[in-house]
Amino acid sequence: MVMGERENPQSLLITGGAGFIGTNFVRYLLRHTDVQVVVVDALAYAGQHCNVEQWQGDQRCSFVRGHIENAELVEYVCRTYAVDTIVNLAAQTHVDRSILDVHPFVEAIVRGTVVLLEIARRLRLSRFVQMSTDEVYGECLVGECSEGSPIVPSSPYAASKAAADSFVQSYGRTYGLSTLIVRSCNVYGPSQFPEKLVPMSILCALHDELIPLYGDGTQRRQWLFVEDLCRALWLLCRVGQPGQVYHVSSGIEQENREMVEHILQLLRKPRTLLSSVPDRPGHDRRYALRWDKIRDLGWEPQISLEEGLKQTVEWYQANRSWWEPLWTGPYARYRQQWYGQLSQSGAASWGMV
Ligand code: TYD
Repeated sequence: MVMGERENPQSLLITGGAGFIGTNFVRYLLRHTDVQVVVVDALAYAGQHCNVEQWQGDQRCSFVRGHIENAELVEYVCRTYAVDTIVNLAAQTHVDRSILDVHPFVEAIVRGTVVLLEIARRLRLSRFVQMSTDEVYGECLVGECSEGSPIVPSSPYAASKAAADSFVQSYGRTYGLSTLIVRSCNVYGPSQFPEKLVPMSILCALHDELIPLYGDGTQRRQWLFVEDLCRALWLLCRVGQPGQVYHVSSGIEQENREMVEHILQLLRKPRTLLSSVPDRPGHDRRYALRWDKIRDLGWEPQISLEEGLKQTVEWYQANRSWWEPLWTGPYARYRQQWYGQLSQSGAASWGMV
């Protein structure tokens, strides 16, 4: 197949396919399409083996454990499964962890993306879809960012994503690789690792523990249900124009405090569980995306915030065995470290004396 030719993808490599968006996207592909899927995931911490187990009997899906930075492995996978499209969902994604230690972010996001791009170029794959984020634009206090807005990342995480996006664009320009960058607002839904605001609030509330809200809790985000994102990703894999950036958002903007209050209401828990803690360093007060470009392709979000949050809360209530080992194991250790350091606050605790 010639690079850039617009044929429907037949065989997709989904990197990070055992993570939050990856798991949901693979499930979507197996339910709604007839493509072949191969997942490469390091199962570092947010990627869960139990996410992979659910489609283990499916002939159309294979799983390979490994890091995307391992060029030999990724090339072997691409050749073995005759991959024509890479959808890069592999990343370290938590801003707070990037403040504690940037190196895993540079490794997985920047170096990992470059390794994938090199392979896509050499094997002349038909498409390279990069999952990105509204955070690359930095704080957007008024209006909405469009796909051409300046890139001014605030956090080490966002800076890593911005760097990776630049590499993706450069491979489109320099080598003619058919690339696409998808920038979404905050995504929530089933199977999200407990460190993020929505699952963290659900699990704290289920344990009657205080929910740490940074600062005054009036920071604003747009929120999209993961299944709506999966529909958008599949649409863009098929009809997205090479070299383009596409925003995916719901336009549903909420203060963090409001978001957590919705969750408390659904769980019939008191608002006294809300607890203000010192703010995240460099915290962007607001993100907002315009998304007319994907709307012009026929995509609209279908799940309301009420419905999405209800489904998410019910999923966590019904899937205790999924999150319990995380809540008491890796997440508990991280939680102690991060919120402990945060409560000491002041520049000294961040090594900036
Ligand atoms: P998060 O889920 O970490 O996503 P992102 O930082 O990518 O937007 O956080 C969403 C919002 O919730 C963000 O403004 C930070 C805030 N937040 C808290 O107030 N307390 C917390 O413990 C966490 C994890 C996030």
